[in-house]
Amino acid sequence: MIPFSPPRIDEKTIASVTEALKSGWITTGPKTMLFEDNLANFLETDQIVCLNSATAGMQLILNWLGIKEGDEVIVPAYTYCATANVVIHRGATPILVDVNADFNISVDAIRKSITPRTKAIISVDIAGMPVDYDLIKELIESPEIKALFSPNTKIQKKIGRIMMISDAAHSIGAKYKGQFTGHQADMSSYSFHAVKNLTTAEGGAVMFNIADKFDHAEIKRQFKVSSLHGQTKDALSKSKIGAWQYDVVEAGFKCNMTDLQAAIGLVELERYKGTLEKRKAIFDAYSEAFSKYDWANIPVYETADKTTSYHLYLLRINNSTEEQRNEIIQRIGEKQVAVNVHYLPIPMLTFYKNRGFDIKDFPQTFENYKCEISLPVYYDLTNQHVETVINAVIESVEDVIS
Ligand SMILES: Cc1ncc(COP(=O)(O)O)c(C=O)c1O
Repeated sequence: MIPFSPPRIDEKTIASVTEALKSGWITTGPKTMLFEDNLANFLETDQIVCLNSATAGMQLILNWLGIKEGDEVIVPAYTYCATANVVIHRGATPILVDVNADFNISVDAIRKSITPRTKAIISVDIAGMPVDYDLIKELIESPEIKALFSPNTKIQKKIGRIMMISDAAHSIGAKYKGQFTGHQADMSSYSFHAVKNLTTAEGGAVMFNIADKFDHAEIKRQFKVSSLHGQTKDALSKSKIGAWQYDVVEAGFKCNMTDLQAAIGLVELERYKGTLEKRKAIFDAYSEAFSKYDWANIPVYETADKTTSYHLYLLRINNSTEEQRNEIIQRIGEKQVAVNVHYLPIPMLTFYKNRGFDIKDFPQTFENYKCEISLPVYYDLTNQHVETVINAVIESVEDVIS
């Protein structure tokens, strides 16, 4: 079976984790700090905070912003549940909006959904393709939208407008107008989950981009404290002679990255450029093969302003119904190729249906979803595997559609 997205684990990864294990320090420590520094260098930024997931990153961002019951946060309908769940965790209301044909959040739909209760927008770089950052920024900076903004906390007042948060779970290494994605939104949350381009098994990192008004080093310190129960010292600092005393300044979370995770991340990051090149080669091979077929709607993954991180290859089958797409997936599976669907839209999930969301209100989201098939993309996928995937897709589509 050709798997969908196995992690790249080789002797280098094993040696790095073994070294961390043998050091005797396995929770947050020197390797996490080094990974944070290396990531900051890679992303051309001053401060990064590493955590145990992108979800945790978004939770800490909303916590820092002081999001609470009565607040609204705008989220695309086409995303993984994490993007909306984090809003629910705050007791706030996720306002779902439709997306464009390119899968990314519709700025028109955002505009129509803004109210005086709107405190933040969480956009999602689906599949690694950056959203229309400049259009979103223009919207939230526009005088009429700023006039609607009604801050509840000191931080919200200091920001002075709707906060722009990026769910950048997919987009590490992607660029928007020549810069990495984390340089666009006020804060961005990257994921290093096992299926992601750059993994630490589970993991994530928040990148800050509000330097004009805030001190990034101070925000990083606050996020570190919030990620460890609000404790003023982490385990490593407490382990120094005579340094056992600490305080707890908030009822914080528990979502720190461990050195075992960072040990994987250090190896992944060191060779990430090669990972991106390999992923691009696979994307290009798929596009070249499928562009010969009228039924294929090839994903756009490079434009004048945007370059993807080649995270997910989202193929759509023109004129396919949801049932036909499901049948195609079944047949591809019978040919020993694992594929996936990204995503089951949020309004189709029971929890959100029970809150009154209806997929009929998000026509483009459903249109994208009903005919979408995500194909395997990973470092160890050989040319022969790529051929097998291509043939399995072509045969399965032609069996079902014609
Ligand atoms: C769009 C999106 N957002 C958020 C997440 C959550 O990432 P993590 O598992 O690191 O919390 C994912 C993970 O699949 C995702 O795809």
